[in-house]
Amino acid sequence: MKHSMTRRWFLAATGAAAAVTALPRSAWGASESKQRFLIRTEQEEGRVSPLLHGQFAEHLGSCVYGGLWVGEDSSIPHIHGYRKSAIDYLKALEVPVLRWPGGCFADDYHWREGIGKNRSKRVNISWGNYIEDNSFGTHEFIGLCRLIGAQPYLAGNVASGSPAELRDWLEYCNYPAGSKLSDERAANGSPEPFKVKYWGVGNESWGCGGNMRPDYYGGLYRQFASFLHEMGGTAPFLIASGPSGDDIRWTRGLLDTTSPMLPDGISMHYYEGGRFEATKFDAAATEDQFKIFKGVEYAIAHQREVINGYRDGSRVGIVLDEWGVWDQIPEEEEKRYGKLWQQSTMRSGVAAGLGLNMFNRLAAKLYMCNIAQIANVLQSLLITDGPEGKRCVPTTTYYAFLLFKEHRGNTAVYTESDNDDPLAVSISATKAEGKLVVSLVNPKDSEEATAECVLHGVTPRNVTARILHHADRNAANSFDAPDTITPKAHPARIQAGMLVVDLPPLSVVTVVVEL
Ligand code: AHR
Repeated sequence: MKHSMTRRWFLAATGAAAAVTALPRSAWGASESKQRFLIRTEQEEGRVSPLLHGQFAEHLGSCVYGGLWVGEDSSIPHIHGYRKSAIDYLKALEVPVLRWPGGCFADDYHWREGIGKNRSKRVNISWGNYIEDNSFGTHEFIGLCRLIGAQPYLAGNVASGSPAELRDWLEYCNYPAGSKLSDERAANGSPEPFKVKYWGVGNESWGCGGNMRPDYYGGLYRQFASFLHEMGGTAPFLIASGPSGDDIRWTRGLLDTTSPMLPDGISMHYYEGGRFEATKFDAAATEDQFKIFKGVEYAIAHQREVINGYRDGSRVGIVLDEWGVWDQIPEEEEKRYGKLWQQSTMRSGVAAGLGLNMFNRLAAKLYMCNIAQIANVLQSLLITDGPEGKRCVPTTTYYAFLLFKEHRGNTAVYTESDNDDPLAVSISATKAEGKLVVSLVNPKDSEEATAECVLHGVTPRNVTARILHHADRNAANSFDAPDTITPKAHPARIQAGMLVVDLPPLSVVTVVVEL
């Protein structure tokens, strides 16, 4: 638990704060406030696993069909059916892990319908009763992961499937050769096993995944898990369907039932709901949405504490495999671009920054995080102009992830702020050989801030920074103006031994301090 730093405490800690002269007012024209931080580089808080920057793709709207996958016969530039521009952007981001095929869709997905020459048509009952032709199946998903360099995470069907179906999927994917299923995989074009490590055992089993009670689901988890084994040297990492938000009743019910056969991971879903359509937020609704992030941070820490209370609980990873802003979705846009299509604005970019900063701070408590979703659905990284559209645009959320890429694999270090307000500037810091990386997010809608960071335990040599910012919370990268908001160089400085960064309202900044 962090404690707030009083002004006097801060002066004592720095011994030099008085040397910081009045800072020039910036050109942003908003009212200004100063916030002070302490970064204790010697106090390590865990490794920032690249998996904290994971993604999620569901058979929903135009996320997969028309978004990532346009098919071999498409006139849209593609690589064996995968939209080329999307692949290029995702490769540049180095997506660490991709969860598929749902979401709610996963609990009505039957993997055999999506392999081989004769794919079955089935109604997608989760997302609008359209005909799912299964042209994108296991091989296409693994092909996508290989193209973009992501680890696959398969979400298994518990609610309308069976232990046998899931166990067979695992054998199909992971057994090297010689069994009927592995030979079928080879005959379908992949002699090499897929080596899938991450397996979800159901999704939102308290809701769309079967409306179960926790003890009932816990029993099913035990049953399914009994048949999911290491094959071909790949030990499956099993992720049980966990709570919505901080639902402790679900977590306890699940753990009471599964203990001492605890899962490797427990999934958790936490969306930040929005009161308006993505491009129509007012200042109050923007700040209300940002305030939810404190609740997410509390929930993760709280769930960690509860899970750790069980024997061997500390080895169970928290997998926040659905998170992100979920705004009001205009019907006309859904009709044009696909179900749950949502524009990502400057507000969404700031929300992404708040989330990613939080994951750095909670690095020791989290195993994996997957934003919902990678393309065209909710807080997506990429948008395309309809299933037939040629244009593919990286969103503000994509660029926030790009800024935070600097932290991947680094060691998180302790940070402390003099302001606990949920709308105060948010910070995280990580270190690696020869550098300290600091990210700062100003969620205030119309107040600029100056962050003064005392750096304990290091001597800064040089700083470079990049910023994602637009003064209009509703501005976005659109199909006609795709470069409206992209990261730019930003003048951070070392002053009186401190790192000083000016932050316009609604901004995300990542600073690399060379040591
Ligand atoms: O991401 C959209 C949906 O939100 C998922 O299918 C479901 O798991 C959650 O409720």
